[in-house]
Amino acid sequence: MKKILKLGIVGGGPNSWIGNIHRIASRIDGKYIICAGSFSRDAKLSRSFGSTLNIENNRCYSNYKIMADTESKREDGIDVVAIMTPPGSHQEIAEYFIKKNFNVISDKPFAATYEQAKKLYSTITKNKKIVYGLTHNYSAYPMVRMAKKLVSDGKIGNIENVNVEYVQDWSKGNVVTAKNAKKVFRWKIDKKIVGSSAVLNEIGTHAYHLSNYITGLKGSSLFADIKKFHKNINLDSNAQVMINYENGAKGIFWTCISARGGNYGLRIRIFGSKASLEWVQNDPNYLRFNPAKGAVKILEKAFHEADFSSNFARVKPGHPEGYVDAFANIYNEVADRILSNNKKKNYYYPTAYEGLLTARFIHNCIHSSKNKKWVKF
Ligand SMILES: NC(=O)c1ccc[n+]([C@@H]2O[C@H](COP(=O)([O-])OP(=O)(O)OC[C@H]3O[C@@H](n4cnc5c(N)ncnc54)[C@H](O)[C@@H]3O)[C@@H](O)[C@H]2O)c1
Repeated sequence: MKKILKLGIVGGGPNSWIGNIHRIASRIDGKYIICAGSFSRDAKLSRSFGSTLNIENNRCYSNYKIMADTESKREDGIDVVAIMTPPGSHQEIAEYFIKKNFNVISDKPFAATYEQAKKLYSTITKNKKIVYGLTHNYSAYPMVRMAKKLVSDGKIGNIENVNVEYVQDWSKGNVVTAKNAKKVFRWKIDKKIVGSSAVLNEIGTHAYHLSNYITGLKGSSLFADIKKFHKNINLDSNAQVMINYENGAKGIFWTCISARGGNYGLRIRIFGSKASLEWVQNDPNYLRFNPAKGAVKILEKAFHEADFSSNFARVKPGHPEGYVDAFANIYNEVADRILSNNKKKNYYYPTAYEGLLTARFIHNCIHSSKNKKWVKF
């Protein structure tokens, strides 16, 4: 009989929007069953929330260490832990579980700072028993995977320009002052929790990972300009970065959390010597392929020339799928990797190495912006 992985969850409890996404995504392909969780540091809240998921009372914890210790001693203990707490605790929670040989799925950012990221990366690479997957979910959309394939098959030629942006408006059009900032931004104005940079850790990570994931380019130098939201509010709200890549390509990166009307605007354009590609998260089932000469093609998920993308789709062409399904692709692939003995199989889910690269990018951006100079990657 097919093994179903026992999943434990840390975070994602009361009021967490992303917690629900993880739980749905983990169930889509029938490879996980949620058996335990630490949904809040408040014991009562963790238990009451767990009961809404039908989790036994004695497996609803309020402390992740007790959860890891207890679950490691149970015969029917969890196989995988999924972490979806705010960034400041990602490293310590992941390390604690890894040291007890639990597989880990973590939400981004990989860690709150580059220092933490290096430590976590070292813990992960030293342990050969575990699988670690990072939910940079945007790179798991079928048409993003298609874009990656077109690039690696040489269909757009040598990459010359990369343009990526992720812009939102966290205040939803409202005026934010030093007085109401904590209410609007919550833990995102606390550096100990959000980490080295709010805008870069929270949404810039997605944009940078997406560009790296599709192009596979290595950066050589960058110049960043990071702006604070307000002189009395300790929150980076806007980052513009110029990137030089090792192959000579030029990149422009923009991320912002105070762009009025910014509606989860994640968009990437990649220009090569033969063609260009454009993908927009709000319309994720389509990928524009613009040849250097000739008519523009709109490739559709799982359809004709985009057949490769059907490997990451669950419903037929013409039927939209999106955010939750992309998350489910990562859960599905991590389960396969844990359960399969085929070490040579190609997996597409984001890894710890990709998390480390993104943390290094952010670290370099902060250094560049502070000193107003170009820095090496
Ligand atoms: N991949 C994505 O698209 C995406 C989208 C949104 C958020 N996120 C990420 O998810 C993470 C959480 O963000 P959020 O918006 O859900 O935060 P949140 O504050 O809304 O929710 C955090 C939840 O974790 C619980 N929690 C916090 N610390 C805990 C601990 N030590 N032990 C047990 N439970 C704990 C809280 O009770 C709460 O229910 C962040 O890293 C964020 O960047 C990712």
